[in-house]
Amino acid sequence: MGKLDGRVVLVTGAARGQGEQEARLFVAEGAAVVVADVLDEQGETLAKELGARARYVHLDVSREDDWAAAVAVAKQAYGKVDGLVNNAGILRFNALVDTPLDEFMQIVRVNQVGVFLGIKALAPEIEAAGGGTVVNTASYTGLTGMAYVGAYSASKHAIVGLTRVAALELAPKGIRVNAVCPGAIDTAMSNPALLDPATTDAEAAAEAASASVARLYRKLVPLGRIGRAEEVARLALFLSCEDSSYITGQPFVIDGGWLAGVSVM
Ligand SMILES: NC(=O)c1ccc[n+]([C@@H]2O[C@H](COP(=O)([O-])OP(=O)(O)OC[C@H]3O[C@@H](n4cnc5c(N)ncnc54)[C@H](O)[C@@H]3O)[C@@H](O)[C@H]2O)c1
Repeated sequence: MGKLDGRVVLVTGAARGQGEQEARLFVAEGAAVVVADVLDEQGETLAKELGARARYVHLDVSREDDWAAAVAVAKQAYGKVDGLVNNAGILRFNALVDTPLDEFMQIVRVNQVGVFLGIKALAPEIEAAGGGTVVNTASYTGLTGMAYVGAYSASKHAIVGLTRVAALELAPKGIRVNAVCPGAIDTAMSNPALLDPATTDAEAAAEAASASVARLYRKLVPLGRIGRAEEVARLALFLSCEDSSYITGQPFVIDGGWLAGVSVM
């Protein structure tokens, strides 16, 4: 028996990275998964590979009309939606004083407004299905600062706040809302070298970049390595299934101990 048998979960940003691993794990645990992203080719390919219990839908999380269309696709395919993983996100590096307003707003629109729109669109559906779960993807930078990612960190702090408010408002409707706060996870976001290198030279450059990322996290993270997308997927599964039945409104840090404090070697 799977932990998500009979459930229907929409995962945003599911074409690659953590969202992809969440989609794979949730299908393996018995759920039907709506794979939502703006990367249509990758999303379609993944949904095809996952089979009848997966369906791809184009969903730009910052667009309210896209959310309405995605809900319609999900209900048509599977009759209901009773789970949401708000995973889509973007990151840009810039000093605060150098950040153009457009860049700041783009990050807020995708990371913060996207989560708001997702909860707004899905909560009535989850309630109508008899209750369920929402998992928002914040970040450890949603709980502490990090230089040169001001817009990102602000948007992730906002997600933690939204998670708490949504948990309070939606508890009477049978909906639990929690957040995952990953530290450094080995995906294209933290390591663009993972994106398909086009030439042999680029492959060598990508390998060198991966090695330097690995060295960096060996020093920074108490557990001595960068995290894996599958590890975050397992936390999202825990928060989406009955194992977490008495938990709502909480941010869960998954960072190899990075936030625990300063280690002196
Ligand atoms: N990788 C890390 O170190 C790390 C750390 C903390 C938090 N996070 C968060 O984890 C989540 C997943 O990121 P990831 O690490 O898998 O990176 P990723 O870049 O591989 O995945 C992000 C996904 O979001 C999608 N996306 C971007 N804009 C979108 C939009 N407007 N609408 C719908 N989809 C959109 C992308 O196409 C991509 O598939 C993000 O919210 C990110 O902020 C990542």
